[in-house]
Amino acid sequence: MNHTTRLQYLEAMGIDVWVRRLPHDRESGLDPISYQAGGAEEEPTLVNPMPETSDALDFWRVLQNEVAVCRQCDLCESRTQTVFGSGNPAADWMIIGEAPGQSEDQQGLPFVGVAGQLLTEMLRAIGLSREDVFITNILKCRPPNNRDPHKDEVAACHSYLARQIAAIKPKIILAVGRIAAQNLLNSDKTIGQLRGQVHDYNGIPLVVVYHPAYLLRSLLEKRKAWQDLQLAMATYQAIEG
Ligand code: URA
Repeated sequence: MNHTTRLQYLEAMGIDVWVRRLPHDRESGLDPISYQAGGAEEEPTLVNPMPETSDALDFWRVLQNEVAVCRQCDLCESRTQTVFGSGNPAADWMIIGEAPGQSEDQQGLPFVGVAGQLLTEMLRAIGLSREDVFITNILKCRPPNNRDPHKDEVAACHSYLARQIAAIKPKIILAVGRIAAQNLLNSDKTIGQLRGQVHDYNGIPLVVVYHPAYLLRSLLEKRKAWQDLQLAMATYQAIEG
């Protein structure tokens, strides 16, 4: 993603990040400008999990292979491939979305489409890169036409996510969007009711944030999304001391 696009994303979320001005800016006498930090032009590197100990490695390989060949629900018929997750398998932060979309189904990686680019920027806005966190979804296969996951599909996929969470032992979970939040919290409340507070997921603090695909359509919620990200970071910092 180039610098201008990144700037547009952050502006869309109402995030001003100040960066150091170059000496020639100062000398030029131009007014200070606010724009986003992290001017690197390259695409984020998407890493596949690779735990360090052999036991952890075996566990992770077994789980990845199980997911790759899963036929527990009908989504196996229409998927191109499964999307296990990506990032740091020893991450403090686990980011959990809904299900792969078209780009994810094609590439086998989570959040790599347009919404994924915004998610990357949202993380960057609180100082996290995709390599710092582990990103996955409630479902490992794409529902046809991106429809909402069915209950039996969520149930069939649940043990994969539960085993990922148990292996990673994240210090905080960010539930991205209504579907992820409702399923993780076993609640049918609206996302408006679930956001803005810290929940407990089996002893792990969980914060709900609007889905970036929704934010791209509904810029009115951008401030709330930024507040939720800050809540998540403040919660994490409180744990870390
Ligand atoms: N939306 C999600 O919830 N997850 C993805 O991986 C991509 C889009």
